Amino acid sequence: MATGYDPIAVLMDEHQRFLRRLGEVRADLRRLSEEGRGRRGLAISMSTFADFLAKDVDGFHGRKEEEGLFPILVRHIGSEGGPVGVMLDEHELLRRHQKTIARNVPKLETDREAVEAWTAVSAATDSVDRLLALHIEKEDQVLFPMARAVLSPAEMFEVAQICQEIEVQLGVGPGEGRPAPRDLR
Ligand SMILES: [Fe+2]
Ligand SMILES: [Fe+2]
Repeated sequence: MATGYDPIAVLMDEHQRFLRRLGEVRADLRRLSEEGRGRRGLAISMSTFADFLAKDVDGFHGRKEEEGLFPILVRHIGSEGGPVGVMLDEHELLRRHQKTIARNVPKLETDREAVEAWTAVSAATDSVDRLLALHIEKEDQVLFPMARAVLSPAEMFEVAQICQEIEVQLGVGPGEGRPAPRDLR
């Protein structure tokens, strides 16, 4: 590739970063509840997580897949009912869980006994934890190898250009994601 930019490798690096972040969120939740710091700490942690899902997972990485890789891949394998369709459905589901978390976090901040809000947030976080890990596995194991097999070098270059444009637009280096949000705890 002329630019030396491999869009699939970059997306896979980002996946690894996301999996590390999921592990941190899990550990955070465990620690905060064990330390008995109440829902204030949890609310801040969840708010940071919602932001990460919206901006890094969806707005940055997801956008590179949906605007860069997927439209070019469907030229070869179609969309409806195929693996790209499944990936798009999962992106949508992740967006829905993100909205549930973001919508309920302010309730946790104002009312520590907001049981319903807390139930909704933990259910959505658990779902994201499972869904995102499986989603990444499917992309890494199935969709990306398929893309490598069917895309011509010119098409891979096209994907690379779109991905790089998005990175420039958002001011983010390849594979880096946005700078880590400030730790508010
Ligand atoms: Fe994806
Ligand atoms: Fe992905």
